[in-house]
Amino acid sequence: MKSMLLPSGYGLLFLFTLTLLFLVERSFGAETVGQKLFSTHCLRCHGINAKGSMEAAKSLKMDPSRLDLTKEAVVQKSTQYLKQRIADGHGKMPQHRQMLTRNQIQALAQYIQSLQKAYVHRVKPTK
Ligand code: HEC
Repeated sequence: MKSMLLPSGYGLLFLFTLTLLFLVERSFGAETVGQKLFSTHCLRCHGINAKGSMEAAKSLKMDPSRLDLTKEAVVQKSTQYLKQRIADGHGKMPQHRQMLTRNQIQALAQYIQSLQKAYVHRVKPTK
C-alpha cells in the first residue's frame, strides 16, 4: 500500500530542486559584509567595483584614477596601508575611524583586495 504521506518521486525531485535553489541563493545572492559596508560608505566616491566614480571625481576636481582602488599602485599596498587610509583618511579622503569598528575596516580592506584580485585576473592575459 502506498502511503500518501511519503512524497512520490516527483515530490522528492521538487523538494530537492527547492533545496538546491535555496542553497544557490544563499551562496551567490548574499552580499559579503565588506561589500555592504562598501556600498554604504565608499561607493559614492570609489564607484562600482572600486573603479572610481566619475561624478565624485568631477566634484572633487581630481582625476578619476585617483579614486580607482584596483589600479596597480594600490594593488602593491599592504593590508595595513589600506586599513590605515580607511581609518585616518588622507587629503580629500575622509577618515572613518569614528564610524567604523576595527573589524569593519578589516572587512573593507579584504573586500578591496578581493576586487583587486578579480581585476588583475581579468586583465592580465591581454597584456
Ligand atoms: C568623499 C569621497 C570619499 C569617500 C566617501 C571615501 N573615499 Fe577613499 N579616497 C578618496 C580620495 C579622494 C582618495 C585619494 C586621497 C589622496 O589624495 O591620497 C581616497 C583614497 C583611498 C584609499 C588609498 C588609495 C591610494 O591611492 O593610496 C583607500 C584604500 C580608500 N580611499 C578606501 C576607502 C574606503 C574603504 C572607503 C569607505 C569606507 C572610502 N575610501 C571612502 C575619497 C573618498
